[in-house]
Amino acid sequence: MVISGKELALSLKMKMAGEVATFPRWYGRVPHLVVILVGEDPGSISYVTGKAKASAEVGIRNTTIRRPESIGEAELLDMIARLNADNDVDGILVQLPLPKHIDEAKVIAAIRQEKDVDGFHPLNVAALWQKQPCTLPCTPKGIIKMLKSAGVTIEGRRAVVIGRSNIVGLPVAKLLLDENATVTVAHSRTKNLAEVTRQAEILVVAIGRPKFVTADMVGEGAVVIDVGVNRDPETGKLCGDVDFAAVEPKASVITKVPGGVGPMTICCLMENTIECFLRKMGSRGGNG
Ligand code: GUN
Repeated sequence: MVISGKELALSLKMKMAGEVATFPRWYGRVPHLVVILVGEDPGSISYVTGKAKASAEVGIRNTTIRRPESIGEAELLDMIARLNADNDVDGILVQLPLPKHIDEAKVIAAIRQEKDVDGFHPLNVAALWQKQPCTLPCTPKGIIKMLKSAGVTIEGRRAVVIGRSNIVGLPVAKLLLDENATVTVAHSRTKNLAEVTRQAEILVVAIGRPKFVTADMVGEGAVVIDVGVNRDPETGKLCGDVDFAAVEPKASVITKVPGGVGPMTICCLMENTIECFLRKMGSRGGNG
Protein backbone atom coordinates (compact mmCIF):
# COMPACT_ATOMS: atom_id res chain seq x y z
CA MET A 1 0.00 0.00 0.00
CA VAL A 2 1.35 3.40 -1.02
CA ILE A 3 0.22 6.24 1.28
CA SER A 4 -0.49 9.36 -0.75
CA GLY A 5 0.51 12.35 1.33
CA LYS A 6 -0.77 14.49 -1.48
CA GLU A 7 -4.34 13.16 -1.24
CA LEU A 8 -4.42 13.22 2.56
CA ALA A 9 -3.06 16.78 2.55
CA LEU A 10 -5.69 17.81 0.00
CA SER A 11 -8.57 16.54 2.12
CA LEU A 12 -7.15 18.15 5.28
CA LYS A 13 -6.62 21.46 3.45
CA MET A 14 -10.22 21.41 2.23
CA LYS A 15 -11.43 20.95 5.80
CA MET A 16 -9.22 23.81 6.99
CA ALA A 17 -10.46 26.04 4.16
CA GLY A 18 -14.03 25.57 5.39
CA GLU A 19 -12.96 26.54 8.90
CA VAL A 20 -10.88 29.56 7.82
CA ALA A 21 -13.77 30.87 5.72
CA THR A 22 -15.70 31.46 8.96
CA PHE A 23 -12.88 33.41 10.64
CA PRO A 24 -13.64 36.89 9.22
CA ARG A 25 -17.08 36.63 10.79
CA TRP A 26 -15.73 35.59 14.20
CA TYR A 27 -12.38 37.34 14.35
CA GLY A 28 -12.53 40.06 11.71
CA ARG A 29 -9.77 38.58 9.57
CA VAL A 30 -7.98 35.41 8.40
CA PRO A 31 -4.64 34.09 9.74
CA HIS A 32 -1.52 35.74 8.31
CA LEU A 33 1.67 33.76 7.69
CA VAL A 34 4.92 35.53 6.83
CA VAL A 35 7.61 33.44 5.13
CA ILE A 36 11.15 34.79 4.86
CA LEU A 37 13.39 33.42 2.13
CA VAL A 38 17.06 34.39 2.03
CA GLY A 39 19.00 33.67 -1.15
CA GLU A 40 18.22 31.76 -4.33
CA ASP A 41 18.52 28.08 -3.42
CA PRO A 42 16.21 26.29 -5.90
CA GLY A 43 14.98 23.80 -3.28
CA SER A 44 14.10 26.59 -0.84
CA ILE A 45 12.37 28.61 -3.58
CA SER A 46 10.23 25.61 -4.45
CA TYR A 47 9.31 24.99 -0.78
CA VAL A 48 8.37 28.63 -0.29
CA THR A 49 6.26 28.61 -3.46
CA GLY A 50 4.49 25.48 -2.19
CA LYS A 51 3.75 27.22 1.11
CA ALA A 52 2.24 30.23 -0.69
CA LYS A 53 0.12 27.96 -2.89
CA ALA A 54 -1.20 25.97 0.08
CA SER A 55 -1.96 29.20 1.96
CA ALA A 56 -4.09 30.35 -0.99
CA GLU A 57 -5.92 27.00 -1.04
CA VAL A 58 -6.72 27.20 2.67
CA GLY A 59 -7.55 30.91 2.65
CA ILE A 60 -4.60 31.94 4.81
CA ARG A 61 -3.00 35.29 3.98
CA ASN A 62 0.61 34.72 2.93
CA THR A 63 3.38 37.27 2.68
CA THR A 64 6.66 36.00 1.30
CA ILE A 65 9.62 38.29 1.95
CA ARG A 66 12.63 37.61 -0.28
CA ARG A 67 16.07 38.96 0.56
CA PRO A 68 19.42 38.42 -1.15
CA GLU A 69 22.01 36.00 0.19
CA SER A 70 24.08 39.04 1.23
CA ILE A 71 21.58 40.20 3.89
CA GLY A 72 23.29 40.75 7.25
CA GLU A 73 22.28 38.94 10.41
CA ALA A 74 21.33 42.21 12.15
CA GLU A 75 19.01 43.20 9.30
CA LEU A 76 17.28 39.82 9.42
CA LEU A 77 16.91 40.04 13.22
CA ASP A 78 15.45 43.56 12.85
CA MET A 79 12.90 42.26 10.35
CA ILE A 80 11.89 39.48 12.76
CA ALA A 81 11.57 41.99 15.63
CA ARG A 82 9.17 44.08 13.52
CA LEU A 83 7.10 41.02 12.59
CA ASN A 84 7.05 39.89 16.24
CA ALA A 85 5.56 43.24 17.19
CA ASP A 86 3.07 43.34 14.30
CA ASN A 87 -0.35 42.37 15.60
CA ASP A 88 -1.51 41.44 12.09
CA VAL A 89 1.12 38.70 11.79
CA ASP A 90 0.25 35.32 13.33
CA GLY A 91 3.03 33.09 12.05
CA ILE A 92 6.66 33.69 11.05
CA LEU A 93 8.72 31.11 9.17
CA VAL A 94 12.34 31.59 8.14
CA GLN A 95 13.16 29.11 5.40
CA LEU A 96 16.26 27.06 6.27
CA PRO A 97 19.10 26.64 5.59
CA LEU A 98 20.39 30.19 5.96
CA PRO A 99 23.68 31.43 4.48
CA LYS A 100 26.77 30.55 6.54
CA HIS A 101 27.36 34.10 7.82
CA ILE A 102 24.02 34.02 9.66
CA ASP A 103 23.64 32.20 12.98
CA GLU A 104 20.60 29.98 12.39
CA ALA A 105 20.02 29.23 16.08
CA LYS A 106 20.01 32.94 16.90
CA VAL A 107 17.46 33.65 14.16
CA ILE A 108 15.15 30.82 15.27
CA ALA A 109 15.33 31.97 18.90
CA ALA A 110 14.49 35.55 17.83
CA ILE A 111 11.03 34.55 16.60
CA ARG A 112 8.35 34.96 19.26
CA GLN A 113 7.41 31.53 20.55
CA GLU A 114 3.72 32.27 19.88
CA LYS A 115 4.47 32.96 16.19
CA ASP A 116 6.87 30.02 15.69
CA VAL A 117 4.79 28.00 13.22
CA ASP A 118 7.77 25.67 12.54
CA GLY A 119 8.00 24.54 16.17
CA PHE A 120 11.76 25.17 16.09
CA HIS A 121 11.97 27.77 18.87
CA PRO A 122 13.95 26.49 21.90
CA LEU A 123 10.89 26.92 24.12
CA ASN A 124 8.74 24.87 21.73
CA VAL A 125 11.45 22.19 21.55
CA ALA A 126 11.67 22.12 25.35
CA ALA A 127 7.88 21.85 25.61
CA LEU A 128 7.86 18.94 23.13
CA TRP A 129 10.44 17.02 25.17
CA GLN A 130 8.55 17.69 28.39
CA LYS A 131 5.22 16.61 26.86
CA GLN A 132 3.77 20.09 27.34
CA PRO A 133 1.37 21.72 24.86
CA CYS A 134 3.43 23.21 22.02
CA THR A 135 3.59 23.86 18.30
CA LEU A 136 4.83 20.59 16.79
CA PRO A 137 7.40 20.66 13.96
CA CYS A 138 5.55 20.19 10.66
CA THR A 139 7.31 17.17 9.13
CA PRO A 140 7.18 14.94 12.24
CA LYS A 141 3.54 15.95 12.84
CA GLY A 142 2.70 15.10 9.22
CA ILE A 143 4.40 11.71 9.49
CA ILE A 144 2.34 10.71 12.54
CA LYS A 145 -0.85 11.82 10.77
CA MET A 146 0.07 9.71 7.72
CA LEU A 147 0.75 6.62 9.83
CA LYS A 148 -2.56 7.02 11.65
CA SER A 149 -4.53 7.65 8.47
CA ALA A 150 -3.08 4.45 7.01
CA GLY A 151 -4.24 2.55 10.09
CA VAL A 152 -0.69 1.70 11.18
CA THR A 153 -0.41 0.63 14.83
CA ILE A 154 2.47 2.52 16.43
CA GLU A 155 2.10 1.39 20.04
CA GLY A 156 4.51 -1.37 21.01
CA ARG A 157 6.16 -1.50 17.57
CA ARG A 158 9.89 -1.27 16.86
CA ALA A 159 10.54 2.02 15.08
CA VAL A 160 13.88 3.01 13.59
CA VAL A 161 14.58 6.59 12.55
CA ILE A 162 17.57 7.17 10.28
CA GLY A 163 18.81 10.72 10.82
CA ARG A 164 19.10 12.89 13.95
CA SER A 165 18.37 16.42 12.73
CA ASN A 166 16.56 19.00 14.86
CA ILE A 167 13.98 19.42 12.08
CA VAL A 168 13.01 15.78 11.52
CA GLY A 169 15.01 12.94 13.11
CA LEU A 170 14.93 13.98 16.77
CA PRO A 171 11.35 15.29 16.95
CA VAL A 172 9.86 12.37 14.97
CA ALA A 173 11.66 9.97 17.34
CA LYS A 174 10.07 11.80 20.27
CA LEU A 175 6.58 11.73 18.71
CA LEU A 176 6.93 8.00 18.00
CA LEU A 177 7.98 7.49 21.64
CA ASP A 178 4.93 9.46 22.75
CA GLU A 179 2.84 7.02 20.68
CA ASN A 180 4.50 4.21 22.68
CA ALA A 181 6.77 2.83 19.96
CA THR A 182 10.18 1.46 20.92
CA VAL A 183 12.46 3.85 19.09
CA THR A 184 16.03 3.58 17.81
CA VAL A 185 17.71 6.61 16.27
CA ALA A 186 20.33 5.52 13.74
CA HIS A 187 22.66 7.82 11.82
CA SER A 188 25.71 8.02 9.57
CA ARG A 189 28.01 6.58 12.29
CA THR A 190 25.75 3.68 13.26
CA LYS A 191 27.58 0.36 12.97
CA ASN A 192 25.87 -2.45 11.06
CA LEU A 193 23.14 -0.05 9.99
CA ALA A 194 21.37 -2.60 7.76
CA GLU A 195 21.12 -4.99 10.70
CA VAL A 196 19.48 -2.27 12.79
CA THR A 197 17.07 -1.09 10.08
CA ARG A 198 16.00 -4.65 9.19
CA GLN A 199 14.56 -4.91 12.72
CA ALA A 200 12.29 -1.94 12.11
CA GLU A 201 8.55 -2.47 11.89
CA ILE A 202 8.31 1.26 11.19
CA LEU A 203 11.27 2.82 9.36
CA VAL A 204 11.50 6.60 9.00
CA VAL A 205 14.30 7.78 6.73
CA ALA A 206 15.55 11.36 6.93
CA ILE A 207 19.22 11.23 6.01
CA GLY A 208 19.25 13.31 2.82
CA ARG A 209 21.01 10.84 0.53
CA PRO A 210 19.36 9.73 -2.73
CA LYS A 211 18.16 6.11 -2.67
CA PHE A 212 20.24 5.40 0.46
CA VAL A 213 17.88 2.69 1.78
CA THR A 214 18.06 -0.45 -0.35
CA ALA A 215 15.93 -3.60 -0.23
CA ASP A 216 18.42 -5.50 1.97
CA MET A 217 18.01 -2.86 4.69
CA VAL A 218 14.25 -3.38 5.02
CA GLY A 219 12.43 -6.19 6.82
CA GLU A 220 9.53 -8.00 5.19
CA GLY A 221 6.25 -6.15 5.84
CA ALA A 222 7.84 -2.97 7.23
CA VAL A 223 6.16 0.43 7.13
CA VAL A 224 8.56 2.79 5.31
CA ILE A 225 8.32 6.59 5.52
CA ASP A 226 10.67 8.48 3.18
CA VAL A 227 11.40 12.07 4.20
CA GLY A 228 14.19 12.65 1.66
CA VAL A 229 13.98 15.18 -1.15
CA ASN A 230 16.97 14.71 -3.42
CA ARG A 231 17.96 14.88 -7.05
CA ASP A 232 18.65 11.48 -8.54
CA PRO A 233 22.27 11.82 -9.75
CA GLU A 234 21.52 9.58 -12.74
CA THR A 235 18.19 10.95 -14.00
CA GLY A 236 18.20 14.43 -12.40
CA LYS A 237 14.65 13.74 -11.21
CA LEU A 238 13.35 14.26 -7.67
CA CYS A 239 13.88 11.17 -5.52
CA GLY A 240 13.73 10.15 -1.86
CA ASP A 241 16.20 8.57 0.55
CA VAL A 242 14.63 5.19 -0.21
CA ASP A 243 15.12 3.19 -3.40
CA PHE A 244 11.35 3.01 -3.93
CA ALA A 245 11.28 0.47 -6.79
CA ALA A 246 13.46 -1.99 -4.85
CA VAL A 247 11.88 -1.49 -1.41
CA GLU A 248 8.18 -1.23 -2.32
CA PRO A 249 7.66 -4.99 -2.83
CA LYS A 250 8.95 -5.70 0.70
CA ALA A 251 7.02 -2.93 2.46
CA SER A 252 3.46 -3.29 3.75
CA VAL A 253 3.04 0.49 3.64
CA ILE A 254 5.35 3.01 1.97
CA THR A 255 5.43 6.68 0.96
CA LYS A 256 6.57 8.08 -2.37
CA VAL A 257 8.73 11.06 -3.29
CA PRO A 258 7.31 13.40 -4.50
CA GLY A 259 3.71 13.24 -3.23
CA GLY A 260 4.46 11.67 0.15
CA VAL A 261 5.72 13.44 3.25
CA GLY A 262 6.31 16.82 1.53
CA PRO A 263 2.65 17.79 1.03
CA MET A 264 1.88 16.73 4.61
CA THR A 265 4.64 19.01 5.94
CA ILE A 266 3.05 21.98 4.21
CA CYS A 267 -0.42 20.91 5.34
CA CYS A 268 0.77 20.83 8.97
CA LEU A 269 2.28 24.29 8.52
CA MET A 270 -1.19 25.52 7.58
CA GLU A 271 -2.61 23.80 10.65
CA ASN A 272 0.07 25.33 12.90
CA THR A 273 -0.63 28.79 11.47
CA ILE A 274 -4.33 28.38 12.25
CA GLU A 275 -3.50 27.14 15.77
CA CYS A 276 -1.24 30.15 16.45
CA PHE A 277 -3.97 32.48 15.14
CA LEU A 278 -6.70 30.90 17.26
CA ARG A 279 -4.55 30.87 20.39
CA LYS A 280 -3.89 34.57 19.91
CA MET A 281 -7.53 35.36 19.28
CA GLY A 282 -8.60 33.28 22.28
CA SER A 283 -6.15 34.99 24.59
CA ARG A 284 -7.35 38.41 23.43
CA GLY A 285 -11.03 37.72 23.68
CA GLY A 286 -11.44 37.68 19.91
CA ASN A 287 -10.39 41.26 19.28
CA GLY A 288 -7.05 40.34 17.82
N1 GUN B 1 13.97 23.65 5.43
C1 GUN B 1 13.69 22.33 5.25
N2 GUN B 1 12.59 21.98 5.94
C2 GUN B 1 12.18 23.10 6.58
C3 GUN B 1 11.09 23.37 7.47
O1 GUN B 1 10.28 22.50 7.83
N3 GUN B 1 10.99 24.65 7.90
C4 GUN B 1 11.88 25.62 7.55
N4 GUN B 1 11.72 26.84 8.04
N5 GUN B 1 12.90 25.39 6.74
C5 GUN B 1 13.04 24.14 6.27
